[in-house]
Amino acid sequence: MTPARHQKRVFSGIQPSGNLTLGNYLGALTRFVDMQNAGIETIYCLVDLHAITVWQDPKELRAATREAAAAFLAAGICPEKSILFNQSQVAAHAELAWIFNCVTRMGWLSRMTQFKDKAGKNRENASVGLFAYPALMAADILVYHATHVPVGDDQKQHLELTRDVAIKFNHDFEVDFFPVIEPVIEGTATRVMSLRDGTKKMSKSDPSDMSRINLTDSADVIQKKLRRARTDSEPIAGCMKDLEYRPEARNLINIFAALSAQDPDSVAQTYEGRQFADFKSDLVDLAVTKLQPISQEMNRLTQDPSEIDRILGHGAEQAAAIAEPILRRTYEIIGLIRSRKGPSRIGG
Ligand code: AMP
Ligand code: TRP
Repeated sequence: MTPARHQKRVFSGIQPSGNLTLGNYLGALTRFVDMQNAGIETIYCLVDLHAITVWQDPKELRAATREAAAAFLAAGICPEKSILFNQSQVAAHAELAWIFNCVTRMGWLSRMTQFKDKAGKNRENASVGLFAYPALMAADILVYHATHVPVGDDQKQHLELTRDVAIKFNHDFEVDFFPVIEPVIEGTATRVMSLRDGTKKMSKSDPSDMSRINLTDSADVIQKKLRRARTDSEPIAGCMKDLEYRPEARNLINIFAALSAQDPDSVAQTYEGRQFADFKSDLVDLAVTKLQPISQEMNRLTQDPSEIDRILGHGAEQAAAIAEPILRRTYEIIGLIRSRKGPSRIGG
């Protein structure tokens, strides 16, 4: 079944497992806002159940969830236009995830590169949740019959698995029920790289804070990190093709292009023949101008955690109202008896 049969509905999620980075902002958040403002139905989720697949300190998890919600709001997500909530408040995600654990094959999950990276050498000691992570992700999306999923490049494999889960479920039960989703991996910043190593993704879990820009960084910190960002000693080339083997240079130009809504080639052309020191000082000005209002607004919002909790609670009620009937129908298809409405639950 193609998404065409389903009403267009966007779903995406971000893990509240630490500071959100410039990579999350450019690769995900700004595109979430664009889709919201294009008038599409948009559902955005702080995936706290995904975050706990690796150890999280309870106090820090709570704070990081509120901070991530503040980042969404500060970046332009509007609770009147989008549904914004944290995953654990809508039980349907975990319930459908169990069903998908029974659809998904061990072999599929064993091929997931994110699992291999995160589990590292000590696989025996990784949580079962980390292994089953992509089945929960498929449930996040399909419990809303979402059709379009904007993500950064690193999530491509997980979205392919989501398609496989939908296809196998529909095939096994001879139904035309779950949509086969469209990944939306677009823009100049689908993969923002580390400031210390242009071949590694910028990540909130990198041990070096100098490798990333956090949305909470002050102007001084942004300046320090960008000035110290690794580059090479050659002057800037006039087009991206000529920067093919210069990953750090490519990355900084891409960041500049994404922050200023320009094409990377025109940025390269503007700085052709110039040294990185000049370019970096313009990049600092641009990054501070764009990010400072966001961090200030995040600061303001996090002063009032109860207002953030209220917004997430309201979003969870709206989300549950969409998810519950889809979950109920899924139970029926499988042959699971649900003779009453179920335990009292949000929207249930
Ligand atoms: P995560 O922080 O892993 O929960 O990622 C949340 C979203 O941000 C996903 O859509 C990721 O693909 C995206 N994302 C994370 N890091 C980057 C990055 N360095 N460049 C572009 N997108 C990213
Ligand atoms: N796995 C995603 C990440 O780490 C986060 C995520 C969880 C997600 N569920 C999702 C993204 C559903 C899109 C749709 O980036």
